[in-house]
Amino acid sequence: MKNMIHKTYLLLIFIILISITIITYGCFNYLWTTNNNYYWIMWWYNLENQNTLDFSNSKFTNKLYIPKILTPITESWWIEKYSIKVQSWETEFFNWIKTRTLGYNWSFLGPTIRVKEWQKISFDIKNNLDQPTTVHWHWVHTPSEYDWGVFNPIKPWETFKPNFEIKQVAWTFWYHPHSMWNTATQAYSWLAWLFIIDDDKSEKLEIPKNYWVDDIPLVIQDKNFDNNWQLVYSNNMHSVINWMYGNTIMVNWSLTPYQEVTKWVIRFRLLNWSNARTYNFKLSNNQEFYEIATDWWFVEKPVKLNSIRLSPWERAEILIDFSNYKIGDNVVLQSNFDENLNIIEFRVTKEANKKYIIPKSLVSIDWLDPNSSIKERTFNLQTMERWMMWNLLTINWKNMYINRVDEKIKLWSTEIWTIKNIPGFWMNVWHSFHIHDMQFQILSRNWNPPDDSEKWWKDTVFLNVWDNVKIIIKFTDYTWKYMYHCHILEHEDNWMMWVFEIIK
Ligand code: C2O
Ligand code: CU
Ligand code: CU
Repeated sequence: MKNMIHKTYLLLIFIILISITIITYGCFNYLWTTNNNYYWIMWWYNLENQNTLDFSNSKFTNKLYIPKILTPITESWWIEKYSIKVQSWETEFFNWIKTRTLGYNWSFLGPTIRVKEWQKISFDIKNNLDQPTTVHWHWVHTPSEYDWGVFNPIKPWETFKPNFEIKQVAWTFWYHPHSMWNTATQAYSWLAWLFIIDDDKSEKLEIPKNYWVDDIPLVIQDKNFDNNWQLVYSNNMHSVINWMYGNTIMVNWSLTPYQEVTKWVIRFRLLNWSNARTYNFKLSNNQEFYEIATDWWFVEKPVKLNSIRLSPWERAEILIDFSNYKIGDNVVLQSNFDENLNIIEFRVTKEANKKYIIPKSLVSIDWLDPNSSIKERTFNLQTMERWMMWNLLTINWKNMYINRVDEKIKLWSTEIWTIKNIPGFWMNVWHSFHIHDMQFQILSRNWNPPDDSEKWWKDTVFLNVWDNVKIIIKFTDYTWKYMYHCHILEHEDNWMMWVFEIIK
């Protein structure tokens, strides 16, 4: 009898434990898949229910949209003041259909911020969303309190007023949201745009610099739309670990776009603003083009390439020579990374009135000396299969914890970092590693010197499965806390991110 009671108790406890596990697992799953989602973005959406644009599509029907340059609200010789409102809106997108969008000052994207080295600028940034956001200047070298990563969320309806001096050379940056857990959905809903810096050198270089005419941003994104042309963000386990792949490509704000060009050399600022997709850009006729800048500043001399690979949020400027084309000719920018995509068509429509010669050299770069490094660190970007309820996307087995400092770094020191992609058992994902505050140079990729396309200054680097990349980096000017993380937005939002602190 006693034995019987004992067994019944054991069974009961067993059943209770099992139910607690199942319930916890269910709750976790539910929270996990929904807490990132903006309320109007559906999750776990039936994929068959979506509008798909054919990737092999060869009709280019929309003129490329290029945003305007932001004008300061007040301007004096010593400071320029800008105002930015972060807002949620509806935009008419496909004839008569209103799509819900987020935007800076407008209903989608934002204006191009364009400033010069050494200029002092200040912003009034008002958050008109019903959730926290930040505006991170990827990658502008700013004091930590204005870098605006996860540490300084702007609450709904609050205004934040950073002001800083542009202490860096020319190049194309972005501003984009960066608060914990909702970076991916906010950025995906069109919240991000360009921040261009000029300097004395860049103004003197013999390169095309007429924004809209021969200096054209090409910001490439992928989206999923449902039958009503609303955005679909599926943040289920698969897209989190693997990635969120859209079934539709957009350039700036245009679908199936074309751009008219002169029979001249045109400069394109290429930016991969996709949550997770990597591209390998090439021209449909395999024509060569010239890379003149990477993530950060110019290359020493234009690099002749057939194709260029850009992982999420990497950037490059290229020159394409159209002078041998005839009026009426066209060529398509494509991508062939692990699939074939058509991105945009260039149509040659105008004679040029002068000749352009690709410059022999651009700038000279200060190469960081590996012997000056005082410390080496290794970061394993680790993917573990989702086992029970934990989804592990870690750096050295640790996830982001906002109140923990993972690495302390001495101001003005140089370090060598090794970044490795360690895939899971069956999840082979690649990563895109980005560091705030300081730019770096690649010393080696898989023990070989880096390719000509990426051996210059960088702030984001691609890591294929099992890749081993060594970089060298020097920490200057500012102290306090910054982050580094995978820039695949689903990975970043799921804490594949660490905090470093620069100390005196
Ligand atoms: Cu594009 Cu942490 O940033
Ligand atoms: Cu950044
Ligand atoms: Cu990643």
